Amino acid sequence: MTVYARVIGTGGYLPAEIKTNEDISKTVDTSDSWIFERTGITSRRIAAAHETASSMAEIAARQAIEMAAIAAEEIDLIIVATGTPDNVYPSTGCMLQHRLGIKKCVAFDIQAACSGSIFGLDMANQYIKSGAAKTVLVVGAEICSRIVDWTDRGTCILFGDGAGAVLLQAAEQEGILSTHIHSDGRFEDLLKCPNPQALGEPDVAGYISMKGNEVFKVAVNTLGRIVDETLAANNMQKSDIDWLVPHQANIRIIAATAKKLKMSMDHVVVTLQEQGNTSSASVLLAFNEAVRDGRIQRGHVVLLEAFGAGFTWGSALIRY
Ligand code: COA
Repeated sequence: MTVYARVIGTGGYLPAEIKTNEDISKTVDTSDSWIFERTGITSRRIAAAHETASSMAEIAARQAIEMAAIAAEEIDLIIVATGTPDNVYPSTGCMLQHRLGIKKCVAFDIQAACSGSIFGLDMANQYIKSGAAKTVLVVGAEICSRIVDWTDRGTCILFGDGAGAVLLQAAEQEGILSTHIHSDGRFEDLLKCPNPQALGEPDVAGYISMKGNEVFKVAVNTLGRIVDETLAANNMQKSDIDWLVPHQANIRIIAATAKKLKMSMDHVVVTLQEQGNTSSASVLLAFNEAVRDGRIQRGHVVLLEAFGAGFTWGSALIRY
C-alpha cells in the first residue's frame, strides 16, 4: 500500500497593524506607484511588540489543528521554518510544542529562507512516507519587519510578517505527490541577513541586504526550471495543474511562472498585494487562504513553489 502525506488542516495568522506604501514613502524616498508597479504590493502586516515567531506560529497551528479536528497530542513531529526565531535556541519548534501543550513529540526548526515551508513539506513527506511519523505539523513563521533596514528602500518595501501552517497525516488517499528541493550556496552576496553576534562582528548590521535586480533574474529562471522538473517527475502536463500557489515575492516573478505554466492568473493564488513577502510563511499563508475560501477543493492538483536566500528553491505537488 502506498502511503501519502495528506493535508488534513491549514491555518494562518497575520498581525493587525497594516503598513501601507504611503506610510513607507513618508520615511524613505519612494512612492506608492513605484512600489505597486515594480512589485504588486500595496501594504504589509507588521507584528506588535509582544508578538514573536512562536506566538504567531501558535495561532496558525491551532487553526490547522481545529480544521483537522484532531487532538494536538496526535502530532508526532513539528517542523518550523523560520529565519526570525525567538531564540537561537531553544528552537521555535520546541517553543511551539510547549505552547500547544504537547508533551511527547519531536520538534525542530529548519532554515531555508523563503523556501522554508517547501523544505518543511519535503521533510514531512519523507517522514510520513518512511513510516517514521504519522501526523506532522509544518509551520512557516516570520517577523521580517525586525530584520528589515527601514532606511533601505530597496528592501523595506518588500517584506511583511505572518505565519502559515499545514497539518499532514499518513493516508491511503493521495496527498503530496512529489517534492523537489535544491540549494546553491554561491550567492550569499546577492541576498543575506548576517548574525552579527555569531560572526563576532557586533558592528555589522543584522539586516537583510539584497541585490534585487540580480535576485529577480535568477528567481525567474530557477522557478521556470522547477516547474518543468515537477511536471516531468509526475508525468503530468501543464494543463493538469489546477492551482499555482507561489512564494509571494514579486508579482512579476509570479506572473512569469504562471506564463511558463500557460496558466491564467485566475488560477494563481496571490496574497502579496496586502501581505508583501512573508518569507517562509508566504506559501502556507496563500495555501490556507485559498483552501478556506473554497478555491482549492478536494481532488485539485496544487503546485506550491518558492525561491529564497542561499539560494534555495523547491516545489511541492499536492493533490488536495
Ligand atoms: N522606490 C523608488 N526607487 C527605487 C526603489 C524604491 N523603493 N528601490 C530601488 N529604486 C531605484 C533604484 O535605486 C534604481 O535607481 P537608478 O536606476 O537611479 O539606480 C531603480 O529604482 C531601479 O532599481 P532596480 O533594483 O533595478 O529595480 P527593479 O525593477 O529590479 O525592482 C525590486 C527592485 C527589489 C522590486 C526587484 O528587483 C525585486 O523584486 N527583486 C526580487 C526580490 C526578491 O524576490 N527577493 C526575495 C527573494 S525570496
